[in-house]
Order: sequence, then structure tokens, then C-alpha cells
Amino acid sequence: TYVVTENCIKCKYMDCVEVCPVDCFYEGENMLVIHPDECIDCGVCEPECPAEAISPDTEPGLEKCLTLNAKHADIWPNIAVKRDPPPDADSFNGTPDKFAYFSA
Ligand code: SF4
Ligand code: F3S
Repeated sequence: TYVVTENCIKCKYMDCVEVCPVDCFYEGENMLVIHPDECIDCGVCEPECPAEAISPDTEPGLEKCLTLNAKHADIWPNIAVKRDPPPDADSFNGTPDKFAYFSA
């Protein structure tokens, strides 16, 4: 599966939802997650994210993000249509320690 990682938090550009062929993104207040049981590993979303926040789960160090994606994909609503990102999205792109901003 592919996984949405920390840099999505407060960036939430949503370009990813436009390209996913199986609509497996789910929306929280300030980030999206991928449903690990629905993602078909096509990889098309990875290069579309302006925050480079999508990775295959084969990359090291993603355990916390994998758990977060799996947990919240079961709780949050599906999102299949892109909206405008937050107005301050660019100012948070690359900010360290963004889990501090996570809000469910
Ligand atoms: Fe959707 Fe493909 Fe990205 Fe998985 S890898 S979330 S199926 S676009
Ligand atoms: Fe997040 Fe990137 Fe999608 S910032 S909402 S994973 S385009």
C-alpha cells in the first residue's frame, strides 16, 4: 500500500484524490490518509503531491504513519473530489515535527 506521511499535515493539497483510480483517500481536519486495504499500489498519487507526502510502505521509518493511515481511514469520510487547500498550506510545507499539529 501507499501511505500519506507527516508532511501532509496542514498542507492538505488534495491533488492526490483527483488521480486515485479507486478513491481510497479519507479526509481528516488537516490531512488525508490512504485506506491500506483499498489502495491497489498503482503509485500514480506519489508524484502528484506538491508536499511529497506520499510514499510506498516499503520505505523505512513509516510505522507511525502506517498506523495512523489504517486507523483513521476506518473513521474519516471518503474524499474523491479535490477542494482548495488551506490558504496557509505553502507556509507549512516542510515544517518539522508536524505531528504536533495533527488533529482528528
Ligand atoms: Fe490510490 Fe494508487 Fe495512490 Fe493507492 S497508490 S492511493 S490506489 S493513487
Ligand atoms: Fe496531502 Fe499531498 Fe494529498 S499534501 S492531501 S497527500 S496531495
